[in-house]
Amino acid sequence: MDGYVVKARQIRKAFGHVEALRGVDFEAEAGKVTALIGDNGAGKSSLVKVLSGVYPPDSGELMIDGRVARLNSPRDLRRHGIETVYQDLALATDLTPYENIFMGREVYRGGVLTPLRLVDRGAMRTKVEETFARLGVKISDQLASVAALSGGQQQSVAIARAAMWATNLVIMDEPTAALGVAQTQGVLDLIRRVADQGIGVVLISHNMPDVLSVADSIQVLRLGQRVASFSRGECDVPDLVQAMTSGTLEEVTA
Ligand SMILES: Nc1ncnc2c1ncn2[C@@H]1O[C@H](COP(=O)(O)OP(=O)(O)O)[C@@H](O)[C@H]1O
Ligand SMILES: [Mg+2]
Repeated sequence: MDGYVVKARQIRKAFGHVEALRGVDFEAEAGKVTALIGDNGAGKSSLVKVLSGVYPPDSGELMIDGRVARLNSPRDLRRHGIETVYQDLALATDLTPYENIFMGREVYRGGVLTPLRLVDRGAMRTKVEETFARLGVKISDQLASVAALSGGQQQSVAIARAAMWATNLVIMDEPTAALGVAQTQGVLDLIRRVADQGIGVVLISHNMPDVLSVADSIQVLRLGQRVASFSRGECDVPDLVQAMTSGTLEEVTA
């Protein structure tokens, strides 16, 4: 094992005439936060959808946890231990945090052979409380619906859900875009703690200071290709902006 939980090589994906991904390379390491940045239309969302099994790539190779993966659906991805936090969070706001975290993966009392299968709420709540404690997520009222939580707390619930189920990688699409300064810091701290659990984290963000503060490595997409990668401390905001907006892609744009 070389420590990479995901390694994508020469991924191509076209939508009709639009080549969203033109041979992208990308990798993410266990225990590290890898930022994926790029201007609008660079291909970030398309790459995430390939990594999360929403779109099969037209060509290219995807290695997950050291093995070649053929991904045809988000369900396949779950089997590979990858969880995605989408921008809309996909939380049911009238349910509690623990109900959201176990939605579709409920724990039953008595095992599969019991004729009357009862949801084991106690076991689910205990597991969620442990996960929150481990990740430092503080939710004042565990039994209140998600609708009653602040935006930052809702984001934390969505991230904790992904972190609880993922065994290899959590992908987060713009997790701080809708948050104020204090809540953003809370979510950045949480992102770091998720990586510290030993899984990989991919962070998509437009906020360069956020990226520079939390990412161990930064990979820059432009016009469907990776044009730069930086390690922590190797770059500043102007370097990132330059990589996103200029470069030597004549062969791509010609
Ligand atoms: N489902 C789709 N159908 C057609 N074109 C798409 C689709 N998804 C993305 N694209 C195009 O692919 C390119 C990359 O888009 P996207 O991956 O969303 O970039 P980003 O997330 O970096 O803004 C854009 O030109 C976009 O218009
Ligand atoms: Mg996008």
